[in-house]
Amino acid sequence: MHFSLLVFACVLCGSTLALNNGLMRTPPMGWLAWERFRCDIDCQNDPKNCISENLFMDMADRLSEDGWRELGYVYINIDDCWSSMERDENGRLQPDPKRFPGGIHKLARYMHDRGLKLGIYGDMGTHTCGGYPGTTLDKIQIDAQTFADWEVDMFKFDGCYSNATEQEQGYPLMSKALNATGRPIGYSCSWPAYVGGLPPKVNYTQLGEICNLWRNYDDIQDSWDSVLNIIDWFFDNQDALQPAAGPGRWNDPDMLIIGDFGLSLDQSRSQMALWSIMAAPLFMSNDLRTISSGAQSILQNKIAIGINQDAMGMAGRRILKEKSGIEVFWRPLSNNASALVFFSRRTDMPYRYTSSLRQLNFTTGSYKIIDVFTGKMASLKDSTDFVVSVNPSGVVMWYVSAPASVFCDKCCCVL
Ligand code: GLA
Repeated sequence: MHFSLLVFACVLCGSTLALNNGLMRTPPMGWLAWERFRCDIDCQNDPKNCISENLFMDMADRLSEDGWRELGYVYINIDDCWSSMERDENGRLQPDPKRFPGGIHKLARYMHDRGLKLGIYGDMGTHTCGGYPGTTLDKIQIDAQTFADWEVDMFKFDGCYSNATEQEQGYPLMSKALNATGRPIGYSCSWPAYVGGLPPKVNYTQLGEICNLWRNYDDIQDSWDSVLNIIDWFFDNQDALQPAAGPGRWNDPDMLIIGDFGLSLDQSRSQMALWSIMAAPLFMSNDLRTISSGAQSILQNKIAIGINQDAMGMAGRRILKEKSGIEVFWRPLSNNASALVFFSRRTDMPYRYTSSLRQLNFTTGSYKIIDVFTGKMASLKDSTDFVVSVNPSGVVMWYVSAPASVFCDKCCCVL
């Protein structure tokens, strides 16, 4: 295709298929309170862990001082249980005065002063899932304006205590209301998760036009079972889900629980690898004040993050399910590169899996491989057999760069 035509086509697809707020062209990254800190409001007995401004400021300090922000982890997101049980005299949501004495606007400033962003939570319905005031249809405009006045940067709109008809009206209305404030606010919709997550009940074309990301499926819990269940659901349904993702519009398989209690280091690498294949948002829900160095280095792996954040924004797919229990995943990346993940569902011992790039549909050529979690590099011809040793519930992840010939044209070769 002629270059200008290609640019024109891309401008068109960008403007028609994704929410037009220009945000989240790559999956958003940051920290979200829910999985680890839930609805702990007992600041008297548990001051370090309760949902309060101190918790969010602590995490912001960690993001900005421990190397997270530079890697792209910039959102600090409040989830449920932040608000007071009553709206104020003007009908506006207000934070719990004991736990957020400075107010949300001041907390947003705290984030912005550190090069971070603040996210907040609400619910399309009479109450949030935790029983706090919800946003019924008549409150959508005032709540969107309140968040914008507070200089909030992202909004998660949950869906407890509403019916399908209200959701059908409410999610698009909130999108319009947020846009109308004039403040760029990333919009996370839980809508699909409340209607089964799949077409025909879910219209992913419409979602891409009104939301930046959306929860498709169940809540993650702190266990490998839960992570595996999410992996299975997303890849079993990849034909419906994978095409829905793209710049500005992402499937959200829920938070990273790396650094908590439920995953081994191998399982943590698996979550990081497969969330990167899916082009999933990377919201950690862990305690960054006490995280182990092992978990931190997985979450801070630059190559995995680079794959997750690839500019082309095309999500990957499972391409093979072997009888041995090895599964192979592939994601196309910019510059004709790609990512491969070899994942083991086995429960016995490291499995030596033999294959070749040709068997994995790579075209003829010689490729440079970087092992994402060991940093080892190698050259590999498409026809050469290789062996990877994959630990039980673990992965081997590769960044595969383009074969040399792709970068050569009449004038020069760039390698
Ligand atoms: C729902 C959501 C979770 C979390 C809780 C809060 O279950 O799916 O992510 O926001 O509500 O109550």
